[in-house]
Amino acid sequence: MKPECFIIRKEYFDHVSWLHGIGHTGRVMALVWELCHLTGLESQKPAAYCAAFIHDMSRQHDGICKLHGSLAAKMKLPQFRDFFLAQGLSETELKAVGNAVHWHSLTEEADMNHEHYQVISLLKDADALDRIRLGPHDLDARFLRFTESHQLIKPARKLFMKSALKQEKRAVFYHELLGKILKSFK
Ligand SMILES: [Fe+2]
Ligand SMILES: [Fe+2]
Repeated sequence: MKPECFIIRKEYFDHVSWLHGIGHTGRVMALVWELCHLTGLESQKPAAYCAAFIHDMSRQHDGICKLHGSLAAKMKLPQFRDFFLAQGLSETELKAVGNAVHWHSLTEEADMNHEHYQVISLLKDADALDRIRLGPHDLDARFLRFTESHQLIKPARKLFMKSALKQEKRAVFYHELLGKILKSFK
């Protein structure tokens, strides 16, 4: 799977948005990639990454909405299915993408015994880390699911500050930026 192949186009989104559009998607993709690395859940990375790509594409507005996840699983996953398969995902991983996207917009947590609990939680934490864009106090770190996610709170803030105005389509842009930021924190 190659981040260089992922271009986050405006026309993929049902609702054009700054809050839940290209920049947010790019940051969540870079953050989930890094989180898979930090947690050692590399095997979950293809599904978590593809889930991040489509997770907010079916939003119809920027308000509170529990349904856009299930709508994206229903509408966007079929749209990108061939692309995801070409990126090397298996049928099982496609199912994990659907479940992660479905669960990400629900307030309730998936059961820890859910077969895709890890992919669901990786997406939820990466999505939560970009809550910095909503305001300095919008991320409640107590709700992060992985202890490793805490290491990404400050880098996520910097990633947002450095990318907020860019609307850069290339996913790889966010990876390179986060890579530089993580180095500066060492
Ligand atoms: Fe969402
Ligand atoms: Fe999101």
